[in-house]
Amino acid sequence: MCGIVGYVGPGDTVGVLLSGLKRLEYRGYDSAGVAVLDGAGEVSVRKRSGKLARLTEMLEASPLEAHGSGIGHTRWATHGGPTDANAHPHLGDGGRLALIHNGIVENFAELRAEVEAAGVELLSETDTEVVAALLGIEFERTGELESAFRTVVRRLHGTFTLLAMHRDEPDTVVAARHNSPLVVGLGEGENFLGSDVAAFVGHTRRAVAVEEDNIAIITPEAVRITDFAGDPVEFEEYEVAWNADAAEKGGWSSFMAKEITEQPEAAANTIRGRIAGGEISIPELEALGDEVLRNADRIVIIACGTASYAGQIGAYAIEQWARVPVEVQLSHEFRYRDPVLTERTLVISVSQSGETMDTLMAVKYANERGVTTVSVCNTQSATIPRESDAAVYTHAGPEVAVASTKAFTAQITALYLIGLHLGRVRGTLSAEDQAAAVTAFDELPAAMTEAVETHEQLAQLAHWMADTRSVLFLGRHVGYPTALEGALKLKEIAYIHAEGFAAGELKHGPIALIDHGQPVFVLVPSPRKSPVMHSKVVSNIQEIRARGARVIAIVEKGDTSVLPYADDVIRLPLTDALFEPLVQVVPLQWFALELSQAKGLDVDQPRNLAKSVTVE
Ligand code: F6R
Repeated sequence: MCGIVGYVGPGDTVGVLLSGLKRLEYRGYDSAGVAVLDGAGEVSVRKRSGKLARLTEMLEASPLEAHGSGIGHTRWATHGGPTDANAHPHLGDGGRLALIHNGIVENFAELRAEVEAAGVELLSETDTEVVAALLGIEFERTGELESAFRTVVRRLHGTFTLLAMHRDEPDTVVAARHNSPLVVGLGEGENFLGSDVAAFVGHTRRAVAVEEDNIAIITPEAVRITDFAGDPVEFEEYEVAWNADAAEKGGWSSFMAKEITEQPEAAANTIRGRIAGGEISIPELEALGDEVLRNADRIVIIACGTASYAGQIGAYAIEQWARVPVEVQLSHEFRYRDPVLTERTLVISVSQSGETMDTLMAVKYANERGVTTVSVCNTQSATIPRESDAAVYTHAGPEVAVASTKAFTAQITALYLIGLHLGRVRGTLSAEDQAAAVTAFDELPAAMTEAVETHEQLAQLAHWMADTRSVLFLGRHVGYPTALEGALKLKEIAYIHAEGFAAGELKHGPIALIDHGQPVFVLVPSPRKSPVMHSKVVSNIQEIRARGARVIAIVEKGDTSVLPYADDVIRLPLTDALFEPLVQVVPLQWFALELSQAKGLDVDQPRNLAKSVTVE
């Protein structure tokens, strides 16, 4: 949600801001804008509802010449619709200052009344303009941007990343964060701000993660960070692990297509360094001390959406290997149910972005209750891993498409590694299970590559099914959350009704949905690895087929048992039973992508969705 970029330096300010916003597009937005100091030294704004291309057109029609400070924003509407007037930046101090914001200011009604009483006329419905107005009033009083900004941010309740600039301090951009992400990019004679490193990775890979409740003050030559009281804060820079090319489409029709094909590599990178001499070990967990892992009597996995399905799949494996009860809770439900947490509970959060507000709040809640928290995250130095006692990174590289693919399979991979590490430390993992898992991990990238090669078949299927209005997905055991994920992909990018069911649940209600021609994807377990479940799923296929379903069976190569009952068969390589989701989900991802394309939709940026959900 809301992309933020800030720049100070001698470069082409508008170009830097637009390229940053382009790279932040993936976060999801419905309007965009920039503010710069123009040739006359005044604050000039261009902003427009709709996609960035509309803002670019506006800038072509009415160019801005600027070398100096500037701020840019992509907005995902919260307070007020996605109109030109509500787009950021917003002005204060009679147009002498500009401000952008990601988040929600909860006490905005009372602040709005205050600034209106002071005679400010507001032009939008946003909470942000109220903050810009307040900053203007404060600047008039103090004549100094940093202290005025500090006074204002201390008055705000809610969540925010704020960036502001003022005509009278042309070389400075100030920024603050509270429960919303902010990173600084360090350049030579220029510096950057962003809601994530994508904002500036085209210019520098040297970054600083701004800590919670801190303010960053950047000029071309210097970066300072203080707390909200104004006391200096020390900071460390880090090198961004991926380069700008990693976040480019590289010849693919969409980021999602590219990311689907990157899954074998993402899994391999996540495994690398964590298996040695036939043993699985995660150094980041070792730092917690074995005692904590041995004493854990319950694990709660918290996550949202796709990450929660990865969590559900991980739960099967962790229970099997570490013999500890695991439950999965949606982050936004977790802290409102007054969960039972003890010092022996281990909370594992799963988040690609590491910034999902619901998950962040759930992690903070667990921390406050003294529970050990482990984060599975794909984004280096994001807020959730920094708030957690230990961080186990997935090394999937930047995921740009809104619909998660490679992060999902990398999350399952990381959770499996955690399960094996726990099983070893707790003495519950048998030598055979460990050896089988090591072999499965060794073979995984090649198996996933074969799964990626099903693309053409799924493209054909999607082409034939372009008018389909509803698709069902069935699976058992780890196939059940995989079915849920297949359905979610279809909903979010092809906008069709889709539902995933546990195959055993069919007869308890959902089978009533089956009618002539109803497409049903069935995830069939391996007959060799899971003969009992396999035969049960084949029976389920017969039941739905008898009622007219169009069955698309995803089976292990060589499994001919379903041929008499399936309309289409997608064949995948043999894997260990627990590893099946890592290959079975791939054709489901292709199917959603191809159906979305067949309907002429935007695969990477589906309507109403944001990549990084930074509001509750
Ligand atoms: C769906 C999808 C979302 C995310 C969810 C959590 O394709 O991407 O359901 O999985 O919003 O996001 P993260 O993993 O960033 O916490």
